[in-house]
Amino acid sequence: MENLERHYETPAGVVKALDGVSFQISEGERVILLGPSGSGKTTLLNCLSSLDSPTGGTYSFHGEEVPRNHSEKMTSFRRENIGYVFQFFNLLQDLTVLENILLIQEIAGKKDEARALELLKLVGLEAEVNRFPGEISGGQQQRVAIARSIAKRPNLLLGDELTGNLDTETSQKVMTALVKACKEENITSVFVTHDEGLVKYATRVIRIDSGKIVSDELTKPSEEE
Ligand SMILES: Nc1ncnc2c1ncn2[C@@H]1O[C@H](COP(=O)(O)OP(=O)(O)OP(=O)(O)O)[C@@H](O)[C@H]1O
Ligand SMILES: [Mg+2]
Repeated sequence: MENLERHYETPAGVVKALDGVSFQISEGERVILLGPSGSGKTTLLNCLSSLDSPTGGTYSFHGEEVPRNHSEKMTSFRRENIGYVFQFFNLLQDLTVLENILLIQEIAGKKDEARALELLKLVGLEAEVNRFPGEISGGQQQRVAIARSIAKRPNLLLGDELTGNLDTETSQKVMTALVKACKEENITSVFVTHDEGLVKYATRVIRIDSGKIVSDELTKPSEEE
């Protein structure tokens, strides 16, 4: 991203949700994005995923300009490249836990039931595979969303308050599993959080305030790497 802007015209004036953001992320990096409420974190994830169109600046991915203002091209870009765990998990209520994952794989043309089951085991949900989202807890639904986000092996995995509904122990387990999956499959990740405790899972920490990057640091990886 180079000098990326996302401005909103409102009756009260222009809101500069992103106000000239520049960075480059290399394959395999695990980025944590921190910043106060309203600083532009979700806006940035939405631009990274091509859910939203920036109003200025450039964004390229694997050397090509990311589509904007064109819903079909934006959808194809997301389907091919992006895994996204939303703040409110967006599970399909009429499908079981397992079916929610199989569907995403199918859409991406990568159906693989063995992998789906393996991922559900990874997030500790092997006993819940045939239940419906309405029959499991919020934290369990979040773990389904996490398993689903990596089920199609995205190039770029995005998470918005990924562990926001999990207790400390479960969130440690889930983060460890995610880091393992990202390393094994060379998935690049950007996770938004308010939890400084997640910094230890990252290779890089970017802080944002009022739509601008205020710091961007490589962190010392905790384990072997
Ligand atoms: N549709 C919109 N119209 C006008 N302003 C908006 C719109 N969406 C977001 N904003 C503004 O853009 C800024 C950034 O919002 P954003 O949702 O990216 O913040 P955030 O860092 O994700 O906050 P939080 O931690 O509370 O989720 C905020 O000032 C917000 O009010
Ligand atoms: Mg947000």
